[in-house]
Amino acid sequence: MKILALCGSLRAESLNAAVLRSAADLFVAPWELTREPDLGRLPFFNADVEETALPEVVAGFRAKLGEADGLLIATPEYAHGTSGVLKNALEWLVGGGEIADKPVALMSASPAVTGGNRAQSWLSETLTVMGARVLEDGLLIPQATRKVAGGRVTDESTLTAMKELLDRLSAAVAEARRARAEAGSFTLGATT
Ligand SMILES: Cc1cc2nc3c(=O)[nH]c(=O)nc-3n(C[C@H](O)[C@H](O)[C@H](O)COP(=O)(O)O)c2cc1C
Repeated sequence: MKILALCGSLRAESLNAAVLRSAADLFVAPWELTREPDLGRLPFFNADVEETALPEVVAGFRAKLGEADGLLIATPEYAHGTSGVLKNALEWLVGGGEIADKPVALMSASPAVTGGNRAQSWLSETLTVMGARVLEDGLLIPQATRKVAGGRVTDESTLTAMKELLDRLSAAVAEARRARAEAGSFTLGATT
């Protein structure tokens, strides 16, 4: 089962990238967590370009998402929304439809006490309108500068909460797969 991880920050010392590193440490086979290396490689969304000549980097990004069973997103909150880099990536996915029906878990780390809650509500609305199945209650990591060291989350209660979220993501992916298989056998039955 493949999970694609997206980070909304391009910073080298990003707290959210550290959160994704720690999440990857918690995944064990048969789970596979692939991190999309850098959303900053994607050009700004342009509907004309999408229609006439889809950039290779965008086609590759869509293909990776198409192969994934679910998504794990860690994003900063910028001015009470998500980051522009992540919003741009999502805009490229609207037309492709690869995100539809995929379970998505949200995480946000912030130095503030709110932990990026507004970025998550904002993202949840956007992803839902794109057809994704956003898990309720993503992971908020407030005062994250005290909970990250050496590029990893060091706070035990945050790691426990992260494990609980990843377990829920695994269960949602398994459930989505079961539903797809059932729908497939139903269609097959109807045609024979
Ligand atoms: C332009 C800008 C806007 C920000 N706005 C918010 C905000 O609305 N809420 C918040 O909790 N933090 C805000 N922050 C602080 C970020 O949460 C903080 O810089 C965080 O470390 C960014 O995530 P990263 O470490 O993964 O790069 C803002 C930071 C910047 C640079």
